[in-house]
Amino acid sequence: MEIRFEKREQLLEKPDQKALGFGKYFTDYMFVMDYDAGQGWHDARIVPHAAISMMPAGVVLHYAQETFEGLKAYRRADGKIQLFRPEMNARRMMKSNDRLCMPQFPEDMFVEAVKALVNVEKDWVPSEPDTSLYIRPFMFATEVSLGVHMANSYCFMIILSPVGAYYEEGLNPVKIMVEDQYVRAVKGGTGFAKCGGNYAGSIIGQVQAEKEGCAQVLWLDGTERKYVEEVGSMNIMFKIDGEIYTAPIEGTVLPGVTRDSIIHILKDWGYKVNETRLSIDDLMQAGRDGRLEEVFGTGTAAVISPVGALRYRGEEITVNDFKIGDLTQKLYDCLTGIQWGKIEDKYGWTTMVD
Ligand code: COI
Repeated sequence: MEIRFEKREQLLEKPDQKALGFGKYFTDYMFVMDYDAGQGWHDARIVPHAAISMMPAGVVLHYAQETFEGLKAYRRADGKIQLFRPEMNARRMMKSNDRLCMPQFPEDMFVEAVKALVNVEKDWVPSEPDTSLYIRPFMFATEVSLGVHMANSYCFMIILSPVGAYYEEGLNPVKIMVEDQYVRAVKGGTGFAKCGGNYAGSIIGQVQAEKEGCAQVLWLDGTERKYVEEVGSMNIMFKIDGEIYTAPIEGTVLPGVTRDSIIHILKDWGYKVNETRLSIDDLMQAGRDGRLEEVFGTGTAAVISPVGALRYRGEEITVNDFKIGDLTQKLYDCLTGIQWGKIEDKYGWTTMVD
């Protein structure tokens, strides 16, 4: 793929690496490519990060034909920069695009575009502990039309943001509220796709969770509101009686790259991982009985995030005395060790940027 480069006059000042937060700062450049029916993808370019213009009747603004991804670039101790399983993100975006009737952005082009942009922005990959460069590829319909139909023009972009921990709590446990009024996804819907619309519909749960002093919301299945599915920005796993439970990927849960990686590691360590439906009643009972040993979320942004308490219908159960569990800590150390190149990547998950 030929990528045109447009240099910016003046580079931006880099933020303090110790106070990055999540998604607040953006780098100097972004990747942009256009699609038109009949022509396909064209005009790949790396240009200064700046506002984009769109006609007010652009399809995405009305009918939300939009998908996105999230991955990270990590600076290793030797200064080199690596990505973690970028091809998984490329493939997931293809599945999301299928569901939203959007054109495919081929896997090789996706990985090439990510590498090209990160290469230009190498100086933005932070080196402080637990920091990385968050990569946000996204695609949206640009056709100017108010008719509800499959749009005939799209834009694919990648923006970059140097980040620290997703939660203010860092690696400290968070409290999660179980949502039993609203639902996030139903079978046949878009739950498995990474599309903005899913997140728009979930904000109401997030607002309620915050009102109740919780960091995030845990969604139950959309049909019976009985089985635990996923949290606002991450998948979730439970350790009960020494075994791991997490919701199956059956159309309503996001197939997380971190989820998949953690399941691999857990099985490698000899744990039984049950990708099965777990009812909220059984979960709360396990909590009351002291059999719920650990709870943690998994996600690119959230990494491994310990959950210290669950609130459901006014009842609150504390997990592991609101402390990070041994397995959660061990998984965090292993995954981040691979991602930051501190331990051997025996799974072959990392890819150098240059
Ligand atoms: C990610 O983990 O990369 C995500 O996309 C979650 C996001 C909504 C913060």
